[in-house]
Amino acid sequence: MSQVHPGDAAPVHDLIGIGFGPSNVAMAIAISEHNARAGTQEEAVTAHFFEQQPQFGWHRGMLIDDATMQVSFLKDLVTLRNPTSEFSFLCYLKSQGRLVDFINHKNLFPLRVEFHDYFEWAAAQVDDMVSYGHEVVGVAPVVRDGSVEYMDVTVRSAEGLAVHRARNLVIGTGLRPLMPEGVERGERVWHNSDLLSKVAGLEGTSPSRFVVVGAGQSAAENVAYLHRRFPEAEICAVFSRYGYSPADDSSFANRIFDPQAVDEYFTAPDEIKRKLMDYHGNTNYAVVDIDLIDDLYRQAYQEKVLGTERLRFLNVSRLAGVEETSQKVRATVKSLVTGEQTDLDADIVVFATGYSPVDPLGLLGEVADRCLRDDVGRVRVERDYRIATDPDLHCGIYLQGGTEHTHGITSSLLSNTAIRVGEILDSLLGRGAESGADAARPVVEESGSAVR
Ligand code: FDA
Repeated sequence: MSQVHPGDAAPVHDLIGIGFGPSNVAMAIAISEHNARAGTQEEAVTAHFFEQQPQFGWHRGMLIDDATMQVSFLKDLVTLRNPTSEFSFLCYLKSQGRLVDFINHKNLFPLRVEFHDYFEWAAAQVDDMVSYGHEVVGVAPVVRDGSVEYMDVTVRSAEGLAVHRARNLVIGTGLRPLMPEGVERGERVWHNSDLLSKVAGLEGTSPSRFVVVGAGQSAAENVAYLHRRFPEAEICAVFSRYGYSPADDSSFANRIFDPQAVDEYFTAPDEIKRKLMDYHGNTNYAVVDIDLIDDLYRQAYQEKVLGTERLRFLNVSRLAGVEETSQKVRATVKSLVTGEQTDLDADIVVFATGYSPVDPLGLLGEVADRCLRDDVGRVRVERDYRIATDPDLHCGIYLQGGTEHTHGITSSLLSNTAIRVGEILDSLLGRGAESGADAARPVVEESGSAVR
């Protein structure tokens, strides 16, 4: 626990952001647009973000050249909040000289590589607010007269450890790749999040078989990509479903991603929340774009006709074991119908087994003890994405992600990012008296008060 000493003059940020993925890039943009409008220094919000990667990167391992976005470009970092923003995807296109070409394309869903480039372009315009190559490793409360007035954020970089002080935090640390229990990643056992970097390491080799586990969008993309990239190799897809199921992207169902749906979800009783996720989980989870399903089926059928089968679908099956040797990896696939086991000797097994939310309190150390949890141990989050805390914590801790249980399916997605950061900023400003008004100034502790 940090103490504030008399004469201590550490500068205090209104806001420190942990992570600089799309969520916190959008946050930084909202702050920079607010500051540009703010009449006085007092109204401006001081913020700094820390990102562990050496430069901006959005799921780089999955930037497959022909993969497209699963969200309309109009749900970029700003447009739903501020349609006149200079940080929009359309402004990006204009700056790249592609606006008219994009319009002629008549397409709402850009390539993922193009959207990555847009994110980088946007992030570069607010890079005075971010330190790359800086990993946040801990947070400690700064206590005065029994109340937590600030938080000290410890950051590790090539220069070593440093501590930065803030009145508010916004945690945007994203999701973690999920492996099945007991399976470790290795040379020949990958998670799809590493696909492109790992494939680069196969340059000059001629793999003969890949096994891809999973039935979601990433799994199907991996199957299609590996099939195309390694024309000599057999690709075995293993999943417990009968076949890939299409993502429901129909217009009425899509309303589950609307800003208003967050209000409704937030106020709905738990049982209705559960039902909504059951009804509409298939807009996002364990589903695949119908065009990709059709392409894969067409390919598999064509191979059957030609007698050149390289695409194999081991459906209603699960991976019962995986054993890596220096030369190969053996995947044991068990049929859920007959129980029969088949050994597949492969060059690589790719687990496209999804991502899991990270416990948002994991980094918070003693501050986490002051955050409230619900009856089943989940963190309690207010409508403005601020964690509910004990009243002696005078700081705000905001979450971008990890709020699916309170705010619904858009929690980890891009759909609502622009609106969400506007709501967080409004909350920060609305609580200005406690969190913003004097925050930009150095903290000079009044004489000798015991600070704990
Ligand atoms: P994101 O995970 O992008 O960023 C978090 C950042 O925090 C990372 O840069 C990480 O390095 C950093 N970080 C973590 N811990 C840190 C620490 N301790 N210190 C410092 N930095 C730290 N959604 C959608 O709506 N439409 C879509 O088309 C897609 N497409 C898509 C494709 C693929 C392959 C994946 C895996 C996911 C999607 N998504 C998606 C969902 C995805 O969650 C979403 O697009 C954004 O990545 C969410 O942005 P965030 O900034 O919240 O997390």
